[in-house]
Amino acid sequence: MKDKRPVVLYGASGFSGRLVAEFLREYNVPFVAAGRNRAKIRDVMDRVPGIETADYEIAETSGSLDDLIKLFSGSKVVCNTVGPFLYHGPRVIEACLKAGCHYMDIGGEQAWHRDVEENWSEKFARQGLLAAPGMAYMSAASDIAAHLVLETRGIDTLDILSMFNGIPTFGSTQTIFAAIPTDAFYLEQNQYKPWPRATPHEVAVPGLIQTQLALPWGGFPHPVWFKHHPQVANVRTLGGLLNRQIMETVAATEKHFEENIRPLPKQEQEQKLAEMANSVQGGTPPRENMREHRTIDVVYGRGTTAWAQCVMYGTCCYRQTGLVQAYAAHTLAHNAPRKVGYASPCAALGHRELLGALESYGLQKAKLDA
Ligand SMILES: NC(=O)c1ccc[n+]([C@@H]2O[C@H](COP(=O)([O-])OP(=O)(O)OC[C@H]3O[C@@H](n4cnc5c(N)ncnc54)[C@H](OP(=O)(O)O)[C@@H]3O)[C@@H](O)[C@H]2O)c1
Repeated sequence: MKDKRPVVLYGASGFSGRLVAEFLREYNVPFVAAGRNRAKIRDVMDRVPGIETADYEIAETSGSLDDLIKLFSGSKVVCNTVGPFLYHGPRVIEACLKAGCHYMDIGGEQAWHRDVEENWSEKFARQGLLAAPGMAYMSAASDIAAHLVLETRGIDTLDILSMFNGIPTFGSTQTIFAAIPTDAFYLEQNQYKPWPRATPHEVAVPGLIQTQLALPWGGFPHPVWFKHHPQVANVRTLGGLLNRQIMETVAATEKHFEENIRPLPKQEQEQKLAEMANSVQGGTPPRENMREHRTIDVVYGRGTTAWAQCVMYGTCCYRQTGLVQAYAAHTLAHNAPRKVGYASPCAALGHRELLGALESYGLQKAKLDA
């Protein structure tokens, strides 16, 4: 299939999918806008600014393994935005491997990252392919900060905080709830250690007088990304929304889950969580506002005597996600990744390069003290 467009965007009708399409157009990357409902994808694509100059086609798929393999075959890269990835990721990554494409998604759920690292990494590496969940604001921005800090020799410990202002979408809300029952780990001397369940943490965010509330939120991908890193031994990540009231509600929901839902059978747990998620966010939020929806990602690095810190000041986490996906797709359509198999955004693309892409659109600025 010589004429196949190099990139398939699966989940094109979603809030994030639309933004990936917007940036694929910026990078002049031809793509297939795919999903389960052609009419909805058409409607969403029609609202992408400047889409009339993009080289794309729409494809509807049943989402079965065979249909996904057919859809992906002949392309180079799949951008998967259909979450929660804990539920929907496995079939898409399998189809990707069978079709011989690089796999990327925007999932930040640590349990999904552990699954990809344990069960898919080697298979992708053997074919010279990338398997990169988490190619998204959360946690690419803090991955950049971590790699900037690691430029200082001797740093072996990373303390990470990732906070944003925004309105979680339907898919994000489903994902936050889907991650509640999963185990969350931090890294201590390269071993996974469990975070205490349902325990919020007071955190100091640079530039803010009042402390904020953050959670391990499923653990974040960093402990998985750095588990086998030659320089790093310890990693802890906390994060959340820069809105204490929302974070108090999330923490109360986690406590409610532990006390009342965890004792139920697994299927009933999932049903209750989905019901709770549906009652929180049913629709699509408005487009982000650069002056309101700011992000801040902080990495403190320590070694025996070494020290460095980096603060990433950013805006519009969903737009960052669109750009990170499109930049990665553009790069992979032309070049091999720096690492094959399971890899973080920076391990696959280079941290200074990824930062450059985000800076050039005014979506991030890094302040490194070392
Ligand atoms: N790490 C990050 O920084 C980051 C940033 C943004 C989003 N995310 C994650 O990305 C995921 C999507 O978020 P979103 O904001 O784009 O959500 P969204 O607006 O709700 O979009 C979800 C997309 O998935 C599709 N979909 C859902 N269930 C499906 C199924 N069973 N089969 C096929 N397609 C299905 C939807 O199709 P229909 O339109 O047909 O319903 C839609 O295209 C979530 O897991 C979210 O947590 C992560």
